[in-house]
Amino acid sequence: MKAEFDYLEAVAQVRQRLAPSLAEDWPLLPAVRAEGAYLYTADGCRYLDFTSGIAVTNLGHGHPKVLAAAREQMEKFSHSAVGITMHEPLLRLVEALPEVLPSGMNMFFFGNSGAEAVEGAIKLARYVTGRPGIIAFEGGFHGRTYGAASVTSVKAKYRNHYEPFVPSVYFAPYAYPYRCPLGEDEESVLAWSLGGLQKVFERLILPSQVAAILVEPVQGEGGYIVPPRGFLQGLRQVCDQHGILLILDEVQTGFGRTGQMFAAQTFGVQPDIMSIAKGIANGFPLGATVASRELMSQWKAGSHGTTFGGNPIACAASLATLEVIREENLLENCRVMGERFLEGFRQLQGEYPMIGEVRGVGLMVAMELIVPGSDKTPNPEAATQILENCLQRSLLGYMAGLFGQVIRFIPPINVTAEQVDEALTILDDSLEAISGK
Ligand SMILES: Cc1ncc(COP(=O)(O)O)c(C=O)c1O
Repeated sequence: MKAEFDYLEAVAQVRQRLAPSLAEDWPLLPAVRAEGAYLYTADGCRYLDFTSGIAVTNLGHGHPKVLAAAREQMEKFSHSAVGITMHEPLLRLVEALPEVLPSGMNMFFFGNSGAEAVEGAIKLARYVTGRPGIIAFEGGFHGRTYGAASVTSVKAKYRNHYEPFVPSVYFAPYAYPYRCPLGEDEESVLAWSLGGLQKVFERLILPSQVAAILVEPVQGEGGYIVPPRGFLQGLRQVCDQHGILLILDEVQTGFGRTGQMFAAQTFGVQPDIMSIAKGIANGFPLGATVASRELMSQWKAGSHGTTFGGNPIACAASLATLEVIREENLLENCRVMGERFLEGFRQLQGEYPMIGEVRGVGLMVAMELIVPGSDKTPNPEAATQILENCLQRSLLGYMAGLFGQVIRFIPPINVTAEQVDEALTILDDSLEAISGK
């Protein structure tokens, strides 16, 4: 007879069963339960989860309203391929989403993930413009499927051995103030990034051949890089000038993460197409490519499709998610707690010279680690050690950055001041431990 299932032993053996391309990412916590900002594991530990499943459970784990909505739908039916049938949660959702999206974003193609939402955005842009070119940005991350990986450039390991990629993709420099070769002020950063885009037009592809400029309004995996306002607005102008579509990848920045529902609103920029996912249904798989009716109605019957996209349970959960964000005034909480976090980071920066920069918007907050006394030499070893120390002290954060030199915290947007302070204390202790103070 087979021995009883031993969960902890199975986790220890997981590398035998899961592709190493995925499973070698740490820390493989053996979760058994999660509630609010806390995650509980089979070995009896409780963690303050400031990853939110990488910006997904924005309302914390198991928000009762979201669970109730999902449960209610599950009792009715859990799948019906959209098209063959229709369902009420989806029809309610397509009415509710335009109320919180940037103006005119009122037509949807639902999929299951961020990468799919990006794929849809690229396909839609090429389809309606009849142009091949896509311009993305250095350090960007858009997902792992082929189209999404083709516009991703944050790490060579995400691309190596996969060539050839989807053709006609070009990369321009992102507005990364801390590492801008011309200087950190807005004028220099815009000269570098928007000037770099002009060079792409001059040397690589004429703007008349470009379907879309695809950009993360705040780079996520790239290191929570917050561009100056003028960057996204500058891109908008370039798009208007040349009839190019502006795609905002709001997969990570959406659903309250930046202190507004979407970063488009935080930065005052109007997209033509958006990709949204992650926080859309607080943990149920759902994503969408979004555009105006005028644009999307040009996407003719049968030219794009899905089996699972727009799942009824996920749509019901998404509706509840939108309600909770509004009812609990979570955008305001996100802004206030984000500022509290950053203020704590600034104090730590004053104490620990290995913190090169602290930055963030809303509750996307990060610190970039450098070798103390160097000219901003990235310090991925310090980032790893800090995260491991935090983990030992029951705080879960996550890595980012071109060199793995950034640690980011992504708490639920209903996080409390006590939880933020607890995280800051743990971070301080961890920094102290690795600095040998
Ligand atoms: C900005 C951005 N776009 C796309 C994706 C891909 O999303 P998914 O992992 O759901 O495919 C991610 C995931 O981290 C992301 O941060």
